[in-house]
Amino acid sequence: MKEGHLPVLVEEVITMLAPTPGSLQIDATVGGGGHTERILEATNPDGRLLGLDADGAAIARVDARLRPRYGDRLVLRRANFRELQTVAPEAGFGAVDGMLFDLGLSSFQLGDAERGFGFRTGGPLDMRFDTTRGVPAAELLATLDRIELSALFKRYGEEPQANRIANAIVAARSTAPITTAEELAGLIERVAPGNPRVRRRIHPATRVFQALRIAVNAELDALQEALAGAVDLLRPGGRLVVLSYHSLEDRIVKRFFASERRGCVCPPEIPVCVCGHNPRLRLVTRPSLAPTVEEIAANPRARSARLRAAERLAA
Ligand SMILES: C[S@@+](CC[C@H](N)C(=O)[O-])C[C@H]1O[C@@H](n2cnc3c(N)ncnc32)[C@H](O)[C@@H]1O
Repeated sequence: MKEGHLPVLVEEVITMLAPTPGSLQIDATVGGGGHTERILEATNPDGRLLGLDADGAAIARVDARLRPRYGDRLVLRRANFRELQTVAPEAGFGAVDGMLFDLGLSSFQLGDAERGFGFRTGGPLDMRFDTTRGVPAAELLATLDRIELSALFKRYGEEPQANRIANAIVAARSTAPITTAEELAGLIERVAPGNPRVRRRIHPATRVFQALRIAVNAELDALQEALAGAVDLLRPGGRLVVLSYHSLEDRIVKRFFASERRGCVCPPEIPVCVCGHNPRLRLVTRPSLAPTVEEIAANPRARSARLRAAERLAA
């Protein structure tokens, strides 16, 4: 796609998925549809793709943009990817050749003032991918106590100034609630401005925003559940490709791939395997792929991307 969201590591995704004409593919995070479009092109003339997104606006946008070209080869569902194991078979995608997860948020969401993902958007601090469910970030900021806020910023943002920021939030909200992304970003800039050299590249509120977004969308739990379901849906030889953007996500993917490759899930203190779990995946990327400096220069959002791919083994 030419504007909006530039798909990350797109050539590498296509190489790793290796989609062929006539194949069935799932894009679990359609976003702006950039990867979806390339996968559909690569499966011409008759491959089919199921695209999911928790965000109804993303589904509507991709439907309007790609439906005229691909017709019923493209099947779209607004759904959380943690529901993959139910949604995919219902849509006729119970056994597929490839599956992509491109985690996190899209540039459309980041730039949408009504969503509260961006530091400078004046709109409400919401941060939900699916605005019809769950609790907006502003509500978490208003209701969690100082210790809970600090723990959240440490756990999901690895924020070294978590205590200081949590204290400042609790002090500020005793006067007036923090309701916009801009207010929260401004408060963090004041109380934890960080190193001026780093600040030029990375906004001091980055880690807190990441932590809130992960909590609001239960992102790590959703990823864990979805990966387990994804392997069940892959045909032997089918490929699973995951793009992650921070170490918490990447660690989940790495550990999941490692455990599915190893097979046995018995605790280490048990000397002989009793679980009977067989290896289900073979690693295709080892250890992982990262974008080139040229890609990062053209698309700064790609900066922290890591791609991992694995292939389903025969049962
Ligand atoms: C990085 S964007 C995907 C961009 C897309 N690959 C492209 O080329 O345009 C991530 C998308 O995943 C969606 N998303 C994040 N977590 C999700 C979840 N648990 N279930 C479904 N969609 C999710 C977000 O709403 C967002 O639109």
